[in-house]
Amino acid sequence: MPSVTEILDTMDYGTAPEANGHVRDWLKSHADGFGHFINGAFTKPAHLFDMSNPANGEKLARASQGTAADVDAAVKSARKAFGTWSRLSGHERARHLYAIARLIQKRERFLAVLETMDNGKPIRESRDIDIPLVARHFYHHAGWAELIVDEFPGFEPVGVCGQIIPWNFPLLMLAWKIAPALAAGNTVVLKPAEFTPLTALAFAEICREAGLPPGVVNIVTGDGATGAALVDHPDIGKIAFTGSTEVGRLIRKAAAGSGKKLSLELGGKSPFIVHEDADLDAAVEGVVDAIWFNQGQVCCAGSRILVQEGVAPKFLAKLRRRMETLRVGDPLDKSIDMGAIVDPVQLQRITALVAKGQAEGGTLIQAACDLPTGGNWFAPAIFTDVGPSSTVMDVEIFGPVAAVMTFRTPDEAVQIANHTRYGLSATVWSENINLALDTAARVKAGVVWLNATNLFDAAAGFGGYRESGFGREGGREGMYEYLVPAWEKALKPQAPAKAEPLGAAPAGAVEGALIDRTAKLYIGGKQARPDSGYSYSVYGAKGKVIGQAGLGNRKDIRNAVEAAAKAGAWSTATAHNRAQVLYYIAENLSARSGEFELRLKSMGQSAKDARAEVEASLARIFWYAAQTDKFDGRIHATKSRHVTLAMNEPYGVMGLICPEEMPLLGFVSLVMPVIAMGNRVVAVPSSCQPLAATDLYQVFDTSDVPGGVINIVTGERDELAKTLAEHDEVAALWYMGSAAGSKLVEAASAGNLKPTWVSNGKRRDWLSRQQGQGTDYLRRAVQVKNIWVPYGE
Ligand code: NAI
Repeated sequence: MPSVTEILDTMDYGTAPEANGHVRDWLKSHADGFGHFINGAFTKPAHLFDMSNPANGEKLARASQGTAADVDAAVKSARKAFGTWSRLSGHERARHLYAIARLIQKRERFLAVLETMDNGKPIRESRDIDIPLVARHFYHHAGWAELIVDEFPGFEPVGVCGQIIPWNFPLLMLAWKIAPALAAGNTVVLKPAEFTPLTALAFAEICREAGLPPGVVNIVTGDGATGAALVDHPDIGKIAFTGSTEVGRLIRKAAAGSGKKLSLELGGKSPFIVHEDADLDAAVEGVVDAIWFNQGQVCCAGSRILVQEGVAPKFLAKLRRRMETLRVGDPLDKSIDMGAIVDPVQLQRITALVAKGQAEGGTLIQAACDLPTGGNWFAPAIFTDVGPSSTVMDVEIFGPVAAVMTFRTPDEAVQIANHTRYGLSATVWSENINLALDTAARVKAGVVWLNATNLFDAAAGFGGYRESGFGREGGREGMYEYLVPAWEKALKPQAPAKAEPLGAAPAGAVEGALIDRTAKLYIGGKQARPDSGYSYSVYGAKGKVIGQAGLGNRKDIRNAVEAAAKAGAWSTATAHNRAQVLYYIAENLSARSGEFELRLKSMGQSAKDARAEVEASLARIFWYAAQTDKFDGRIHATKSRHVTLAMNEPYGVMGLICPEEMPLLGFVSLVMPVIAMGNRVVAVPSSCQPLAATDLYQVFDTSDVPGGVINIVTGERDELAKTLAEHDEVAALWYMGSAAGSKLVEAASAGNLKPTWVSNGKRRDWLSRQQGQGTDYLRRAVQVKNIWVPYGE
């Protein structure tokens, strides 16, 4: 023990360990192993696997490896509980969530210590960040439960939700999943990560103590195989996953065609941009929070540090100095900055990637700190001498290692920032609000922090763009992930229509009928011949040939996507300007409504139906023109002093496979909301009746629609849909058609993990205002970017 004089001489920290006796007692009381929590009770432990403390390798407990039978029992119990839970009033559900929040708050210290022992994260973080946020999440969502009928009229819970979470924020990820699901009236089966199930099991005890009805929350422990069984279970209505992009992709494919709702929160390689006018000391502290928080095992870690050239030497010197002062060691010590890596497997992954970075010529600068012996340790580090495509700039390391690069101009910063498959978060440092907000608007990321980093709150949505996944957790936008319009839930799938090859003459076709003219494709604002050179006959009433349409192929889709990609100015045009174009389309369509009615009649519609379809199309275009500057974002009331802007941003290029029925209205119902929100589209109109859509070329030509904003490729719908689903430049895809086509599209979209919206063979009534138009279409045409803007000193 050093004397007081010695302490004053060295100014060394002493140790300040958090007591863990109460956690040890709890673990001792479960020395026989944990079972699963199913239907309000723990099952008998079986097929046990070990959990150990990452800081010293000590065995902590054993949990059960869930089998398919365990998953099935849990889903059955959740299904049974759904009946009563979903029928409780919002207020009654709110009281349950509130009770859980209160108990979590009472157990904060216990839960923080348990989390730190299981995961290796510093107690400073589990105590001050993870667990308070868990309680906050349940309080916030007790509020959504209370307000459900006021704020989400016409929506219903999905059913049983299967939720799979990772090991980096075990209890926090549980809260992000369970709180909104329960608030909306769903029941859940949650699988924690195999490295860190302990706080989930402690949470199960809290549910029991809070008097939550049995079966509302079920916890099944186990590894990926248990997770896969949950994904595959037919009685699951929604899957929510957080974890690696690889597993996210597997889940996307496994769930294709099942009708299950899906949200994926995946990896990232997030930029941390330091402009030359930034407060450099603050930005250096930002790096500490960005990449050394939770040992860098954070999906939204600022792992690509981009510094403006002029200040780079100064910034780097400060950063290196700061890195040397970080204290790495026993995570239960209250004055420790960085704890242990979760598992030897993860440590190996980090070590291998770092070795690769060095082999590629990167310079590793690592803190010269003393690491404890035993356990899994990696000292904080940065890489310099790297380029935008170096492995360490490109691949998620998921450890305390950032790569540093310089940039010359703000434009270049944005370019490098967006040079990634991911799009989870971004951090921008600048004292110039114009520059900071401009950068925030241009980076492709679901969350942007200005002059701070890694801020989270239950009131703000969190989630990614591109291969970081889709869907949001938290805030109003997160609630929609667990709700479905009541009318949509009631729709029944239709038997698939008999598929005839395109152009095949129907029975009783009139041979030698007068051939109208051949409609071409519409690409980049110009009519274009199909690449194949082929066209197909379109048959109308009584089997009469009413025209020919181009038979588009993969090449035509690629050309159309290229044209749409080039039309980026549409996405930055003002909402007012876009509305003007939509109104102009309606005006020109109205002037030619007689022609369109005739066209629909030639397809076999009655005069009354044809008129109704044209009139409904006009009204729909007006409705979306009106929404263009009204469907706007929000400012979320987050806990810290921030104006948190929830901005609706267009995806970019979207693919639309329009319904076979209602060839004009179906087309208009999909294209208009999507372009109103600033996307550019490649649309495949009704395959068997494409001529109402191809007649629109002239309407678009005379309505100031910029070339490339609307592209139309006619032909075999599922073949074209597959090409669109596989195309990496297509950022989102809607498919209205058969169950088989829906499955095809969902599976093929796994490449760049584009969000899809498919109808699963259920046919909506396009004439109905409730089913054929509405904010649901607009919401699916945008992705929400949350920008955290600080205010005050
Ligand atoms: P992982 O994606 O394999 O594990 C996440 C969860 O998914 C765990 O609960 C796991 O049991 C489950 N799982 C695994 N395979 C599954 C399957 N086929 N079907 C259903 N569930 C399945 O992540 P892992 O292997 O632990 O870490 C690997 C890398 O993933 C890390 O190095 C990191 O780069 C990234 N990662 C990203 C996370 C994030 O928050 N975005 C969290 C964890 C890991």
